[in-house]
Amino acid sequence: MREDALEREIEEILGLRERREKDSELYKIANEVFDRTTKETLAYFHRRGKIKELYGVISTGKEANVFAGVDDRGERIAVKIYRTYTTEFRRIWEYLAADPRIGYLPKDMRKLVFVWARREFKNLQRAIKYAVRVPEPRAFRNNVLIMEFIGGELPAPRLKDVEKDLEKTDFEELYDFAMGVIERLWKRGDMVHGDLSEYNILIHEGPVVIDWSQATVKRNRVSLELLRRDLANVSNYFRKKGVEVEDPEEKFRELVEG
Ligand SMILES: Nc1ncnc2c1ncn2[C@@H]1O[C@H](COP(=O)(O)OP(=O)(O)O)[C@@H](O)[C@H]1O
Ligand SMILES: [Mg+2]
Repeated sequence: MREDALEREIEEILGLRERREKDSELYKIANEVFDRTTKETLAYFHRRGKIKELYGVISTGKEANVFAGVDDRGERIAVKIYRTYTTEFRRIWEYLAADPRIGYLPKDMRKLVFVWARREFKNLQRAIKYAVRVPEPRAFRNNVLIMEFIGGELPAPRLKDVEKDLEKTDFEELYDFAMGVIERLWKRGDMVHGDLSEYNILIHEGPVVIDWSQATVKRNRVSLELLRRDLANVSNYFRKKGVEVEDPEEKFRELVEG
């Protein structure tokens, strides 16, 4: 695609043609992190109606940025765009190298990030099958993942953001939810999230588990370590909130042996 045509299409995706100011946060972040591949990928989705417009920045991270947008049918979407240059390269490489589902690991960082994004998409598809509430995955290509938008007018808050408004019984329910997720994933899905915490649970008409990039399958050699970590993090967090939690080590043994 020609450079100027591509730039025009990106402006359209960002809504810059009509109303948006060039100094908006959205524009700044897009300018800073969208390389040529990202632009081409967004243009690809734009032409297919999967992304009509991106209108806001939900989150900026070391590894990815998440945008709020809308598709051609007017449905709202969340678009996770992985940075093609990230300081997290080593960590990503190690996680992928341990995953038995990944056959070939590209040496090129950009391509490695594509594998990472595809893995998150597959993890979302897999988790949904085991009755875990997650953003429904819609499409992925290269470093761009499109999923269901979780939220109302605004993006849903994380558990961490709303904890001060919650009561003991809410924490008890959320603890049961989190432990139920860990157990169902492990026992029925042969899978572990690996980063389950108050930062990766959104609250919108109940809890929704996000951020599946590091999730993996049981037969991964590090899966036990990840399971133990999820159990420890969840237990520590909810214990501090006054919930009577089960002993995570006991739970670990029960899951692994049972
Ligand atoms: N589907 C979604 N709907 C609404 N907000 C989302 C969605 N996915 C992610 N977010 C927001 O973006 C933030 C970062 O997403 P996440 O997948 O956790 O990436 P990371 O933590 O690796 O940057 C989340 O904390 C959440 O606030
Ligand atoms: Mg996260």
